[in-house]
Amino acid sequence: ETPENDSLPGSLFSLTPFLPVHLTGTKYGCGSGGCGACTVMVSRYDPKTKKIHHYPVTACLVPICSLYGAAVTTVEGVGSIKTRIHPVQERLAKCHGTQCGFCSPGMVMSIYTLLRNHPEPTPEQITEALGGNLCRCTGYRPIVESGKTFCAESTVCQMKGSGKCCMDKEEKSFTSGQEKMCTKLYNEDEFQPFDPTQEPIFPPELIRMAEDPNKRRLTFRGKRTTWITPVNLNDLLELKTRFPEAPIIMGNTAVGPSIKFRDEFHPVFISPLGLQELYFVNSTDDGVTIGAGYSLAQLNDALHFIVSEQPKEKTKTYHALLKHLRTLAGAQIRNMATLGGHVVSRPNYSDLNPILAAGKATINLISKEGKRQIPLDGRFLEKSSEANLKSEETVLSVYIPHSTQWHFVSGLRIAQRQENAFAIVNAGMSVKFEDGTDTIKELQMFYGSVGPTVVSASKTCQQLIGRQWNDQMLSDACRLVLDEIYIPPDAEGGMVEYRRTLIISLLFKFYLKVRRGLNKMDSHKFPDIPEKFMSALEDFPIETPQGIQMFQCVDPHQPLQDPVGHPVMHQSAIKHTTGEAVFVDDMPPISQELFLAVVTSTRAHAKIILIDTSAALALPGVVDVITAEDVPGENNYQGEIFYAQNEVICVGQIVCTVAADTYAHAKEAAKKVKIVYEDLEPRIITIEQALEHNSFLSAEKKIEQGDVEQAFKNVDQIIEGKVHVEGQEHFYMETQTILAVPQEEDKEMVLHVGTQFQTHVQEYVAAALNIPRNRVACHTKRAGGAFGGKVSKPALLGAVSAVAANKTGRPIRFILERGDDMLITAGRHPLLGKYKIGFMNNGVIKAADIEYYINGGCTPDESELVMEFMVLRSENAYYIPNFRCRGRPCKTNLPSNTAFRGFGFPQAIVVGEAYITAVASQCNLTPEQVKEINMYKRTSRTAHKQTFNPEPLRRCWEECLEKSSFSARKLAAEEFNKKNRWKKRGLAVVPMKFTVGMPTTFYNQAAALVHIYLDGSVLVSHGGCELGQGLHTKMIQVASRELNIPESYIHLSETNTTTVPNATFTAGSMGADINGKAVQNACQILKASLQPVIRKNPKGKWEEWISEAYEESISLSTTGYFKGYQTNMDWKKGEGDAFPYFVYGASCSEVEVDCLTGAHKLLRTDIFMDAAFSINPAVDIGQIEGAFVQGMGFYTTEELKYSPEGVLYSRGPDDYKIPTVTEIPEEFNVTLVRSRNPIAIYSSKGLGEAGMFLGSSVLFAIYDAVAAARRERGLTKTFTLSSPATPELIRMTCVDQFTDMIPRDDPSTFTPWSIHVS
Ligand SMILES: Cc1cc2nc3c(=O)[nH]c(=O)nc-3n(C[C@H](O)[C@H](O)[C@H](O)COP(=O)(O)OP(=O)(O)OC[C@H]3O[C@@H](n4cnc5c(N)ncnc54)[C@H](O)[C@@H]3O)c2cc1C
Ligand code: FES
Ligand code: FES
Repeated sequence: ETPENDSLPGSLFSLTPFLPVHLTGTKYGCGSGGCGACTVMVSRYDPKTKKIHHYPVTACLVPICSLYGAAVTTVEGVGSIKTRIHPVQERLAKCHGTQCGFCSPGMVMSIYTLLRNHPEPTPEQITEALGGNLCRCTGYRPIVESGKTFCAESTVCQMKGSGKCCMDKEEKSFTSGQEKMCTKLYNEDEFQPFDPTQEPIFPPELIRMAEDPNKRRLTFRGKRTTWITPVNLNDLLELKTRFPEAPIIMGNTAVGPSIKFRDEFHPVFISPLGLQELYFVNSTDDGVTIGAGYSLAQLNDALHFIVSEQPKEKTKTYHALLKHLRTLAGAQIRNMATLGGHVVSRPNYSDLNPILAAGKATINLISKEGKRQIPLDGRFLEKSSEANLKSEETVLSVYIPHSTQWHFVSGLRIAQRQENAFAIVNAGMSVKFEDGTDTIKELQMFYGSVGPTVVSASKTCQQLIGRQWNDQMLSDACRLVLDEIYIPPDAEGGMVEYRRTLIISLLFKFYLKVRRGLNKMDSHKFPDIPEKFMSALEDFPIETPQGIQMFQCVDPHQPLQDPVGHPVMHQSAIKHTTGEAVFVDDMPPISQELFLAVVTSTRAHAKIILIDTSAALALPGVVDVITAEDVPGENNYQGEIFYAQNEVICVGQIVCTVAADTYAHAKEAAKKVKIVYEDLEPRIITIEQALEHNSFLSAEKKIEQGDVEQAFKNVDQIIEGKVHVEGQEHFYMETQTILAVPQEEDKEMVLHVGTQFQTHVQEYVAAALNIPRNRVACHTKRAGGAFGGKVSKPALLGAVSAVAANKTGRPIRFILERGDDMLITAGRHPLLGKYKIGFMNNGVIKAADIEYYINGGCTPDESELVMEFMVLRSENAYYIPNFRCRGRPCKTNLPSNTAFRGFGFPQAIVVGEAYITAVASQCNLTPEQVKEINMYKRTSRTAHKQTFNPEPLRRCWEECLEKSSFSARKLAAEEFNKKNRWKKRGLAVVPMKFTVGMPTTFYNQAAALVHIYLDGSVLVSHGGCELGQGLHTKMIQVASRELNIPESYIHLSETNTTTVPNATFTAGSMGADINGKAVQNACQILKASLQPVIRKNPKGKWEEWISEAYEESISLSTTGYFKGYQTNMDWKKGEGDAFPYFVYGASCSEVEVDCLTGAHKLLRTDIFMDAAFSINPAVDIGQIEGAFVQGMGFYTTEELKYSPEGVLYSRGPDDYKIPTVTEIPEEFNVTLVRSRNPIAIYSSKGLGEAGMFLGSSVLFAIYDAVAAARRERGLTKTFTLSSPATPELIRMTCVDQFTDMIPRDDPSTFTPWSIHVS
């Protein structure tokens, strides 16, 4: 019998909730197998081979019942602080591979499992093992590096010993100007050795169980579902006859998501996982038969073996499959998903079925009636009933024939991201020729992701039989296939013209591959393809990233004990990697606690006619449904609405919540709440619609210098343009989490919340409950990433949960699921930027008139402030004497957009870089020349009249150009481009003048509280929240220096409103700046009060001074305070010293673009960032790299999709693609440039956000590559490349004969599936 709560459909599934209480290391980031946070290792004993098989799985998709007989190792089983930490955990922590730590247990498990199978892995195996694990903080480089420490030295890096290798860890210094530079962020001598023989043994009882000759059928019975594991093949067939409709559960990667997300229900499951008869490989002269139970990882191994054994001509189908197996999902899914499950589930995006079909595979079926074979062909894939397996049949194996001599097979695919992303379009193609000729004898073409199933272009293939493999055939084939495979203009998934283009672009690739193959067979008879076309043949390789990080060395005269300036490991890093770091959802259950599930609006703008909660309330475990009526205080506070009242103003607005004893009950009941709406007009979704309706959230913000109108009259040229920049989802790995605990007395409410702004949570909760703020206490130990998304939204969600806690009188645990989080909390503002630029023919820009409109969504949130920041920072690094920038946030019926790292800068400045690029194109100059010409060069005033010295900007810019060898590489790229028609390289350098802090002094204030206890230990508290950015680590470094005691004496427990009241938000890159000043102040006060006892006993120990101070009644506790940087922005005049200081930087990126598919590969990035004096280079470099990769995602792979009705489609890792380890630069170099910043603590600078914009160097490098492609095709010089530069945008901008060939639709004749909202 399974536990009681399996009475709900689907709850038999997912190992995660069944992990024993308090084993909280395994994290839950998505529930769909897409993020890897829940990775655990499963080990099984195979009685046939007598070997133990270890493999990684995503626990959220593993049915608990499938684990009978298996050993599961969670991160706790790998090592812990309480027992012994494992080298994997230690090295991940010490290499600075953790920031917020939410992804870290999953990372540990992926590397650990790899080591169990390969104790000395290759770097490629490390990258492969991490492909299914997302990290939103680090940018992956240090994670890979920690893994590489287990590789054999010889395999690590070609650059080893050259002084450029990331693994060259000998103490090294470079001289940059006067500075001594270091590259050693950790000391590998500290690592404990890795001894693979010391791992826990596989439980012997499981071996005995597996070898038991008297095994019996296993049945788990729940209230609504029954799970049966047959004992042998006959038993399976028996069960399949008895329960023909019951799914066969193998990897559960297809069935599981259907149950979880599509409400599928099955009363019976049959799981033959591990059944010996389904696991075999049988190789014959003609082909290979592979058991249906083989996981895709095992299939991969088997095919690798076969290709190593067989002559090349026989293995073309296997090579094609292997190519796709490398990028299909991540390692965990590949280890779970089975060949049988893949073939039978037939996803329309299947990467394997089109190749299997093209390779003429057949499926071996078995039932009680006997065995039969069916072809794995178009009819099977298109789910034609006559070609299908019967419900009582099971797939025993798949037979894949060898390829033959005059036979070519290929797999082709393009996805939003290289690995772990469903294909946008994929294909399996094969052609057989009459021997010795290029006359087509047989042709097979199968396409995925072009319709509801994989489709066969069978008519096209038929018509081409007998034709020669030449250009005329290709041209006819393209025409025919476009006729045969029609993607309607409103097709689900959108990207219609792009997908049509891909159909023929992939065909063209196949055509070229085959021509090349024919040439290799007989070079006299069959001419080779042009040299220029060669690079079109291959996809981008997946390389293991490497690079160097340079920072200033610590002054050799600095006392040894003083940690400031050292790359100190994150204070919680080891706890992150052991899973012992406690996040809100890891807190043990509180007596009587309830779980909250949300009911959100399905309409963008509508009147609420009725909320019927009766069906929900009738369900078991449900305690209450909470609506606007239950808010005792204000429900509409500062324009933010806690529970929708009378009307809804966006899809995703919280209408009510359900409180129940389990989350499963709450969620089930939430589905039963019935809401009747009446749509209201207008429904405004896009910025264009908002402009039409004059719908704004605030008044215009403007800055202006010079006489713009007059200047336009005296310039050589004027250009005007528009730039669209779409939004971004924060995708912090830990979703929004709140535990609201009502107290017994005085209406007190305690909240544990992952936030960046406790004061705001306190304020909103007090307002909602109508109680003074002194009754509300907020605690934040840490947040699993935030990036701006936890500034304002936790206040709203805190109010929502506090109202529920108040109404029910019970603690409320409110953990947003990934889909709800993405839907409700919104993200970065989409931007429409318009520009008019007047310039001289020599590239000097004389006048700029810029307009910004952002999509603010339905409530004010921080949109006005974001717009202020955008306008103030709009000039970036360039001096334009006549400059005007105006902007307004638009009010629309989308969820309210909010703060996001960079706070408007990453969007706004793209407009600037776009017009610089356009000016360059008009003047026949390079963008870098126009940047150089117009860049600030000496102490100047910004457009809002703040004086600054751009000297560090110049240094970053010049060093970046020089050290990245920009000019030489640019020439090399041009050479490459001349030689390659279908792949183009591009380079770009972007300069940056970023700002830290707020334009209002009081927002820059901070406080701290420091206690010294009688044993000499110190407790530091301050108002900043630890979000992964290493704030607490830096604060301990500050306290250590100020008190002159080792860091080990200092503890920092949490942030709470009781200790430090009224703290400002931890945002704006100023967390360490302002809290550092407050901690410094407190420590200096304490140090001053200790002076009398120190003077009396100057050689005494710290502990002695403390006890003496106590005996002399000297206070050992004090607050520290920082008043805030002086800033004063006068918006009436549009001028003032808006920001405390500036951070400068530059980055250079080089990409290669596949013009036929739109894919790109980031070859190299060099970042030079003005860090002034870095308090902690490891933390600062981590912030820069992490922000860069997040920025790169924003500008390339991350695309939010909305329906025209304002419904967000992208609600999880399946359809929103943040970068993975394969997207980061192959070579990634970061240098911290030294400058001075006397106003900040230790002359440091805040670097939390600045790296984000530097990600745009990738966007402009792509632009450069695309421009090269267009130049070659004789197309217009200036074109608009919006952001993100997705494969779709890249491909469709590289106009060519294929884009010209596709059918186009009149936009007025259909409603597209998705729209852009910028
Ligand atoms: C996060 C994620 C990413 C993914 N990415 C990709 C990708 O990039 N490319 C891609 O192609 N696919 C991808 N997939 C899909 C994946 O390949 C399939 O879900 C998987 O192959 C199904 O195999 P399974 O063993 O998990 O099937 P299950 O879910 O166990 O079963 C699926 C179906 O097959 C039937 N079935 C299973 N075995 C048999 C059998 N022996 N005989 C008869 N019927 C059987 C079951 O009854 C069920 O209906 C992804 C999936 C996930 C979750
Ligand atoms: S939580 Fe399991 S993969 Fe994301
Ligand atoms: S450290 Fe990887 S998600 Fe935060």
